[in-house]
Amino acid sequence: TKVAVLMGGNSSEREVSLNSGKAVLNALLEKGIDAIAIDPSIDDITHLKEKGITSAFIALHGSDGENGTIQGVLDYLKIPYTGSGVQACAVGMNKHFCKVLWKAAGLPVADYIALTKNEYQEIQYEQLIETIAHLGLPVFIKPNSEGSSVGVSKVDEYSQLKTALEVAFEFDNLILIESYLSGDEFSVPVVLKDVYPSIRIQSQNAFYDYEAKYVLNNTHYLCPSELPKEQEQEIKNLAFKAYEVIGCEGWGRVDLMQNAKGQFMLLEINTSPGMTSHSLVPKSALTLGESFSDLVVKILNNAKH
Ligand code: DAL
Ligand code: MG
Repeated sequence: TKVAVLMGGNSSEREVSLNSGKAVLNALLEKGIDAIAIDPSIDDITHLKEKGITSAFIALHGSDGENGTIQGVLDYLKIPYTGSGVQACAVGMNKHFCKVLWKAAGLPVADYIALTKNEYQEIQYEQLIETIAHLGLPVFIKPNSEGSSVGVSKVDEYSQLKTALEVAFEFDNLILIESYLSGDEFSVPVVLKDVYPSIRIQSQNAFYDYEAKYVLNNTHYLCPSELPKEQEQEIKNLAFKAYEVIGCEGWGRVDLMQNAKGQFMLLEINTSPGMTSHSLVPKSALTLGESFSDLVVKILNNAKH
């Protein structure tokens, strides 16, 4: 066997992916597994077979690495890979589609409006404010298909709206305007058929943004998350249903927030979660006594498609 650890790529999360990929590669080498780094933005991944590659660990985040494109190439090459297949990746990278499917399945999501660039260019500013008034303030503005909070802004007053929309539209032709949830943020890993303990995230920034995720060291992570037992079970059940509705496989991570009433609301799902030193799935695994390298090997051993 020879494993290609796919990392880098050309998404806005390239740097995060390089960190995930290096950590995964080191873990595999530590375990005596033959593995090499492959960056699809540099290497031609249509020739993996000629390089003797027998499976791929996908440590790519965002765009082609997480939206099914790379997965489709690997399917075509008949190279088994970690995580979800083409369809779940394509839906999982699309926050709007996930919410539509979750709502249809009766799962809780925060109120939001999806707005295309064309709609934005045609709507009068006053009309837009009227359309989103029921969401209240603050609102979150997010590019539909980005990760790691890239392009996301919290809007506390309408005077900040225009800039926030323009930032988000730099990344995507579809953006989301989401109502603010005032409770804590949680994340729940799913690995094979197991739901791992939830992680509670307390950002010291205005929200859990890119800086709080990867740059600063002042974000508080609680794992176990100190939820009462019944609530921990509830959040795990909800995360697993969300994962199943999207059709995810292998592993993934579901992000949620509590609203003012303490109810859990789904934010999004990640089909290729971060594996950096700051990342959440490894933190949760550690509380179960599972080391980073054991986690990596478990995910790799389930590579299929
Ligand atoms: N999108 C980042 C890598 C994550 O969800 O962990
Ligand atoms: Mg994400």
